[in-house]
Amino acid sequence: MKAVGRSLPLPITDPDSLQDLELPKPVPQERDLLVQVKAVSVNPVDTKIRRSQLTDQEESTPRVLGWDVAGVVKSVGAQVSLFQSGDEVYYSGSLIRSGGNCEYHLVDERLVAKKPASLTMEQAAALPLTAVTAYEALFDRMGISQQGESAEKSILIIGGAGGVGSLAIQLAKIAKLHVIATASRPESQAWCRKMGADDVIDHTQSMPPQLQKLHRPMVEYIFNTSHIDHYWKIMGEIIMPQGRICGIVESSGSVDLNVLKSKSATFVWEFMFTRSMYQTEDMIEQHHLLTRIAEWVDSQQIQSTLAKTLSPINSANLRQAHATLESGRMVGKLVLAGWDS
Ligand SMILES: NC(=O)c1ccc[n+]([C@@H]2O[C@H](COP(=O)([O-])OP(=O)(O)OC[C@H]3O[C@@H](n4cnc5c(N)ncnc54)[C@H](OP(=O)(O)O)[C@@H]3O)[C@@H](O)[C@H]2O)c1
Repeated sequence: MKAVGRSLPLPITDPDSLQDLELPKPVPQERDLLVQVKAVSVNPVDTKIRRSQLTDQEESTPRVLGWDVAGVVKSVGAQVSLFQSGDEVYYSGSLIRSGGNCEYHLVDERLVAKKPASLTMEQAAALPLTAVTAYEALFDRMGISQQGESAEKSILIIGGAGGVGSLAIQLAKIAKLHVIATASRPESQAWCRKMGADDVIDHTQSMPPQLQKLHRPMVEYIFNTSHIDHYWKIMGEIIMPQGRICGIVESSGSVDLNVLKSKSATFVWEFMFTRSMYQTEDMIEQHHLLTRIAEWVDSQQIQSTLAKTLSPINSANLRQAHATLESGRMVGKLVLAGWDS
């Protein structure tokens, strides 16, 4: 089968940074689905892993990247109970297994859901990784109520037009929060409004005066999809007493937790691969939450965040996609679809 992988940690301008491969078709075991991959999306995690040092195993075998897939189940392992051959599915998968940039991919059924029926494969592939991240951040980590008990409270979403921010805005609106998103350019600001943000402020300008203008000088929740240390001090100033802050990007240095003490504010991490990486007992929650996301999509409460599609899935198009992501200026999601015959 066709696949795309990396053999060496190279800059994306190097034509060998991602390579077309021919690999054996894998065989599903236990709770695995064998999925025929129709479309994939690209995330910053792909670019980070592409640039990372090789592990011992990767010295001899190229690593296939890709953690956003939409496709069709072709066969199932003996212990599979949630899916059958022919099901159209979408998922992110596991960082400790081979990624989805390949024609046939193995994934544990507990990380998978039926794809939203109203979306194309391309539109569906744009969603899973960012949807899992935003869902877990808002509902599992910060404890925001889906039933409206957090209604009218304010959330600041730093980096609102990125892949994760685009889903976070929409999920926060489902929870009836007042959403203030940050974006620095006219097109990213317009995208945040399209996703449903009530207000948009500019993260390249001082945030407290912009929040004061909105008559919301402090917010109950902050979801920071950008660098923690860069915004640490300011988050301490604008978080409401007893408020909650969630981060998803590791700090490049240490941060001072004391900043949050007088306000009894909480800081919590979200890492969307925690459940699959540690095989937690509640790993199946990702099946449930992606199913819920699909229901919200099909009832038009969530829109796809697909912004651009490249075709086919090959190393040249994936290099172009990585380069776009590495610019740090992505708005919505970039998807690759189809394979050359
Ligand atoms: N922990 C996890 O589970 C997890 C999951 C997914 C992603 N992540 C990480 O989260 C980060 C965001 O992911 P993503 O998929 O949303 O990325 P993305 O789509 O590439 O984000 C692009 C957006 O980032 C915004 N941005 C750039 N610099 C910024 C800054 N200094 N402050 C605020 N916003 C800024 C840009 O907005 P403007 O153009 O308007 O400036 C742009 O719209 C990445 O580092 C990724 O690795 C972590």
